[in-house]
Amino acid sequence: MRKAEIAIIGGTGFEKLFTDVERLHVGTPYGIPPPISMGKLGEKTIAFLPRHGPEHSVPPHKVNYRANVYALHKLGVERIIAVNAVGAINTEFKPGDLVVPHDFADFTRQRHATFYDTAPVTHVDVSQPYCPELREALIKCAEKLGLPLWRRAVLVCTEGPRFETPAEIEMFRRLGFDIVGMTGVPEAVLARELEVCYASVCYVSNMAAGMQERLTPREVYDISRKVHLKVEQLLIETIKTLPPRRSGKCPCANALKNARI
Ligand code: HPA
Repeated sequence: MRKAEIAIIGGTGFEKLFTDVERLHVGTPYGIPPPISMGKLGEKTIAFLPRHGPEHSVPPHKVNYRANVYALHKLGVERIIAVNAVGAINTEFKPGDLVVPHDFADFTRQRHATFYDTAPVTHVDVSQPYCPELREALIKCAEKLGLPLWRRAVLVCTEGPRFETPAEIEMFRRLGFDIVGMTGVPEAVLARELEVCYASVCYVSNMAAGMQERLTPREVYDISRKVHLKVEQLLIETIKTLPPRRSGKCPCANALKNARI
């Protein structure tokens, strides 16, 4: 089977960035993920997985995060860059802004959030929940391209598919969270459990509930179209700049080393 080094998980359309594209149906013990597009970007082989399916038909709480992450791991992927839409809780952030979160809080309720349901009991360390090397690469490349980007943020992940209430957002604000989304967790955790590096590029599609009059998926979609080009530019530059292999010095590469008693 053809192997990929780096993967993008996000909305649709990123496969257009690649040449020599092949569509793969990858089976996993957790089910079948959406078709994965594999292609070349410069010298590197990249996989693209549309998180919500090719027709955007899978809601955030029904995404098979385990199948998605496992399939990429099976293809040899060592680094994942995720793209996520978020609402802004921090009033400094505005619709259209790009954000690379450094931490998250998990407020999801009914997602299968681990590969380790049986012995050996496994507790991965998420003291640095996102790969510091991948984050650094994204931040440096944004700077090089002159793209403004927030370099730190705490993301809170909610279950969805409804948007939050104003009271929930006020609670999250008091807890110190900056952005809110429905897709960041457990994806980041599952990657860590398989020792895959993972970082996220979030784009702010709206101010969170209670901070603007109403929320509509249309708005999220419209902003995503507007920022798509910026996100694409950042992904291309970052993937081109990344060394062919990861250094192995990040917490992701050896996540299982001390995770079992
Ligand atoms: N809340 C949750 N998820 C989101 C939002 C939001 O306001 N905007 C985009 N994804």
